[in-house]
Amino acid sequence: MKAVEIKPGIYWVGVKDWNLRDFHGYQTRRGSTYNAYLIIDEKVVLVDTVKSYLCDEMLARIASVIDPSKIDIVVSNHVEMDHSGSIGEVLKRAPQAELLTSTNGEKGLNHYFDTSGWNMRAVKSGEQVSLGKRSLIFTHIPLVHWPDSMVTYVPEDKLLIPNDAFGQHIAADGIFDDETPLDIVMEEAAKYYANIILPYGIPVSKAMTAIETLEFDMIAPSHGVIWRKHIATILDKYKFWTQHQHVNKAVVIYDTMWGSTESMAQQVKSEFENQGIPVILRSLKHSHISDVIVDVLEAKYIALGSATINNMILPSMGAFLTYMRGLKPENKTGFIFGSYGWNPKALAEVESALVELGWKLPSAIVNTKYRPQQDAMDKLQTAVKALVDNK
Ligand code: FEO
Repeated sequence: MKAVEIKPGIYWVGVKDWNLRDFHGYQTRRGSTYNAYLIIDEKVVLVDTVKSYLCDEMLARIASVIDPSKIDIVVSNHVEMDHSGSIGEVLKRAPQAELLTSTNGEKGLNHYFDTSGWNMRAVKSGEQVSLGKRSLIFTHIPLVHWPDSMVTYVPEDKLLIPNDAFGQHIAADGIFDDETPLDIVMEEAAKYYANIILPYGIPVSKAMTAIETLEFDMIAPSHGVIWRKHIATILDKYKFWTQHQHVNKAVVIYDTMWGSTESMAQQVKSEFENQGIPVILRSLKHSHISDVIVDVLEAKYIALGSATINNMILPSMGAFLTYMRGLKPENKTGFIFGSYGWNPKALAEVESALVELGWKLPSAIVNTKYRPQQDAMDKLQTAVKALVDNK
């Protein structure tokens, strides 16, 4: 188990979680990586740790460079346990070490762990700590991802360690962005943004503004690959996403009971095609909500269809709406369709969610009794055309 030198005297000592397939409800088909960084200077620093069950592997990587008992400073950029889970064990090995975190980090760590005996100190945003030849500068970036989040910057090495920001849930054979095909890295960066960062557009914009004043040639996030070749690509994408920009694309998301809503979804899809709008069709029976939300991230038009069961929308659509209301995608044009047997009111729940999200809804709901006949299909066609004509 070896550390990987990413800059002279700075090492990746993280762990790849190859078998992870679920990260608090987010399907992680390619696993994940918890990145921790070891800085060897007159003072020895460990920035972030890993999940507790992977602690031994991180300690072994540290030990390939230096005895873990020699660590002088542990930095906790973020309280969430994928990064803080091994702090207690590290501090057992290096009880003299000072633990630096943000003000909210101190509060959060006190909630999650028995911190009695920890030599913990909250650092201010902008505070600089000298390590000898190098220094660390901390910038608080609350809500990217939790209120405690902060960035650690090493100016002498032009190295930014922003924790969750710019991360991707992926375990890859390399550790840099030029060692894995860029389309895979960007696919996972988009999925990570859509599922983790999306609700925090304003805090992320503020963090981006703070970060842009810094000079760096490497971004070392807490998950996935380290950015050294494609920094401009990921920064541009983050600007696009934080501004809730979209591309001229549609997503039709639906679930069906006896095929009526599915045939309507097919009609909606066909009409988007007829209008020259690229379209993705997603059945909630076959696609996981953490994948569907990635399609939503950049699409302009979102059509949602559900059958009615027991006077309610289908549970799969209810779950998707709950997930999406939390993630708060903005600046969308929505459309709602579906089918019912005897109570046509269930789709009001979908409408209420989209109104809450502030989406444009230029076309009325198309809801059909039992099986859609030609008039319902014609209404869908007209509704989609009206969406596209609405500027
Ligand atoms: Fe990777 Fe918010 O923890």
